[in-house]
Amino acid sequence: MDQSKAPVLEALTAYHRDGQTPFTPPGHKQGRGADPRVRAVLGDDVFRSDVLATSGLDDRTSSQGIVEEAQALMADAVGADHAFFSTCGSSLSVKSAMLSVAAPHEELLVGRDAHKSVVSGLILCGIRPVWVDPQWDAERHLAHPPSAEAFEAAFAEHPDARGALVTTPTPYGTCSDLAAIAEVCHRRGRPLIVDEAWGAHLPFHPELPTWAMDAGADVCVTSVHKMGSGLEQSSVFHLQGDLVRPEVLRSREDLLGTTSPSVLVYAALDGWRRQMVEQGKVLYDDALALAAQVRERISRIDGMRVHGRDDFCGPGRAADMDPLQVIVDISDWGVTGYRAADWLRRHHRINLHLADHRRISAQLTHADDLDSADALLAALTDLAARREELRTGQPVHVPPPPRMRLEQAALPRDAFFGPTEQVPWEEADGRIAAEMLTPYPPGIPAALPGERLTRDVLRYLRSGIDAGMVVPDAVDAGVKSVRVLRQT
Ligand SMILES: Cc1ncc(COP(=O)(O)O)c(C=O)c1O
Repeated sequence: MDQSKAPVLEALTAYHRDGQTPFTPPGHKQGRGADPRVRAVLGDDVFRSDVLATSGLDDRTSSQGIVEEAQALMADAVGADHAFFSTCGSSLSVKSAMLSVAAPHEELLVGRDAHKSVVSGLILCGIRPVWVDPQWDAERHLAHPPSAEAFEAAFAEHPDARGALVTTPTPYGTCSDLAAIAEVCHRRGRPLIVDEAWGAHLPFHPELPTWAMDAGADVCVTSVHKMGSGLEQSSVFHLQGDLVRPEVLRSREDLLGTTSPSVLVYAALDGWRRQMVEQGKVLYDDALALAAQVRERISRIDGMRVHGRDDFCGPGRAADMDPLQVIVDISDWGVTGYRAADWLRRHHRINLHLADHRRISAQLTHADDLDSADALLAALTDLAARREELRTGQPVHVPPPPRMRLEQAALPRDAFFGPTEQVPWEEADGRIAAEMLTPYPPGIPAALPGERLTRDVLRYLRSGIDAGMVVPDAVDAGVKSVRVLRQT
């Protein structure tokens, strides 16, 4: 295919050139009706290009197939059979993928380090999760994606499971052995879904971790806004092989998706694909070199440990890692990641990606350069000088890995929609959760509907919140009380 084309961008140019006059949404009519104070902040071009997809970008019947062509170019660029654009983030794409593979009450193998959007999919669809344990690094209190052996064992116990879902890279940048997991699935004729929300850039450089389609996955979901040049909410899900039908995947997306997709999001996706095909190799040569330099410079700061392959990869740990996720352990200082991240924003206007009870992380992309790297390094150097002030007497009680895992005592859907009550956290031990309790970021629920709560996990959340952790999805965001299933 001619990868120099960008059908959405070209159609948008034609829309402007032809002087189309809309008597359709969006009601701002290319910004003419927008408050000038809004336009002054957002810029006129945002409104100018915010046009309707049908009877706007394309005609009433979409006869030019503009978005379809852009999707076909994306599939061609990354070696998939099909690509589907979504304007509702991977949060929607991953649900579409799950609903294409398992129906209500059917089993799906899912790595327990899944994002909360996966858990939402289980709740909405009534899928029965068979949890597959991640590979825990007990010393560093960190989870890497589950191994192929763990999926093999789960299939042996649950031969009727309809397929498997694995998250890789994790928000910490660590990756599973996808080819081995795909082999486990395919030996049973079952599809593998990969939540590759953090991996939209992987197809475009040989030194980045293996791209899910190259590893043989059936469906993979990416958030192009996370690591790529997409606008927020832009997601692409990719399909190959014949274990999942494209019309089924499309119909599941249609069930969940908006009927008013943003052409701005489509246009940025289209441009990202062309940019990557034409310049991806060079851009990631530079980004990887910058990442190596940044990692080396941070590791010279006293008390900062930058996690690399030696820490994260190997037997019982991850198969690979994305060096663009720069994960820094500051536990030697006795300072939490929460306090460090808040301090960096307040004093240096530096916003970090992840902050947990002992780490901070900086996400680098192809958009970074020496200037942004220098700003980060200056801020981290200053942070190191201020560590005494940031020390806290507020420890987070992180239980050992086996005590972080909860028993799934009821279906997530049944617990979420069942009769509930709000109880003080001290009384929730042994009760069945009816809500997700998710430290964010990274957004992996510590407890989810249907899991039996334990004092260990409740104490972890309570002490975490006191130390600065954010649990935004809890009914009581302070987790002083918890929503549980009413006892009958
Ligand atoms: C692993 C993972 N999957 C899915 C999502 C949802 O992606 P989005 O924000 O594009 O909806 C996220 C978001 O952080 C994530 O970390």
